[in-house]
Amino acid sequence: MKKFPEGFLWGSATSAHQVEGNTLNDWTQWEKDNAKRLAKEASAKWEKWQQEKFPEMFTVENYISGRATDHYNLFEKDFDLAREGGHNAHRFSLEWSRIEPEEGKFNQEAIEHYRKVLIALRERGMEPFVTLWHWTSPVWIGEMGAWGNHETGKYFLRYAEKVFAEYKDLVRFWMPFNEPGTEVSYGYLFGKQPPAIKNKKLADAAFNNLMQTQKDVYGLAKSISEDFQVGCSHFMFHIRPYNNLPWNILAAKIMDYFADYRFFKTFRNFSDFFGVQYYQPFWVNLKLGGRFWGLFENKQKSGWCNDLGWEIFPEGLYHVLKKAAKNGKPIYITENGLADSEDKDRERFLKEHLQILHDAILEGIDVRGYFHWSLLDNFEFVDMRGFWPRFGLIEIDYKTLERKPRKSFYAYRDIIKNNGVE
Ligand code: BGC
Repeated sequence: MKKFPEGFLWGSATSAHQVEGNTLNDWTQWEKDNAKRLAKEASAKWEKWQQEKFPEMFTVENYISGRATDHYNLFEKDFDLAREGGHNAHRFSLEWSRIEPEEGKFNQEAIEHYRKVLIALRERGMEPFVTLWHWTSPVWIGEMGAWGNHETGKYFLRYAEKVFAEYKDLVRFWMPFNEPGTEVSYGYLFGKQPPAIKNKKLADAAFNNLMQTQKDVYGLAKSISEDFQVGCSHFMFHIRPYNNLPWNILAAKIMDYFADYRFFKTFRNFSDFFGVQYYQPFWVNLKLGGRFWGLFENKQKSGWCNDLGWEIFPEGLYHVLKKAAKNGKPIYITENGLADSEDKDRERFLKEHLQILHDAILEGIDVRGYFHWSLLDNFEFVDMRGFWPRFGLIEIDYKTLERKPRKSFYAYRDIIKNNGVE
């Protein structure tokens, strides 16, 4: 049995727009306007086996978040299940558009709602990790140009100040942003998710505004409570050359450097802990016209893949942790998971990643917690994939909203119970 350090945090993660249902933010209208097109484009986007296995991808509803899992109303039920699974921590996001639906007007009902959510977690013995922005913003912020507009940072600070003050007795761990890099690239460079613009200048502006705001929020948090732990959230590929061809080796080095260094620069100095989000490797194969990042093709090696076609490579977690550890901050794995509708690989995925994680800890890398993505099946909004990819430890029947813990949910519960993995 590989035992984890005492006090290790075990949990799972969600985000508001993906699970709550009935959100009204800068993504809502975009989904309605683009759902038909997305359903049509599915055949060009996904492999044959995926199209056959998940015909929902051809329906318009797949691309509209709608009532999602109705977690907004069913959160207590969901937290009961998390508790049953032994979780002692939980990561979720506040929905800014509920808290400040109109500029400067804070909605007391929403504020009370999230207080209830936090109390429900505390009552069940779960440490909350609260994300302030998991990509969705109030409509009025969207209309101003969201992160492409410098002013957004100022409004975000006011929102942050409000929630810090409201919840300071209930929350210690804060994460201002979820994966700023993913939203900047998919939202502002590739144009695949809202605001869906392809504009390098705006992408740079959004990146700079987000990083500046991380700095400002960090300072603000510290001025409110010395006890606050402010983190970051960073998506990390395990980036290596596909083979020994010199141009692939060089390309992988360049990509590996540029994927992280600008984020590290800010996060190193303006966060107390590092939130690592790891899903898959990127085996760099230079190819003119490659699908992703132009020249850089991610060529698979092992054939062990999840429903989205992402290669599963647990060892990569070790390498990204080693890289993140250079920043000298404690690390929490704030996301790691897979789309696996049949739950055939999730248990093995969990065990192998946790074994690797254990090795990293033994080597002295200071990892203090693990949050599986996700507690529930949800609206997978990266790249607007919709409902068909199933990331949950708990399965959702979207017709009846019935929750059904998958087999892997119980495997994870046993790991947590033992505070260790075989
Ligand atoms: C995001 C989640 C998303 C997950 C799986 C992460 O990049 O933070 O919102 O569902 O990846 O794609």
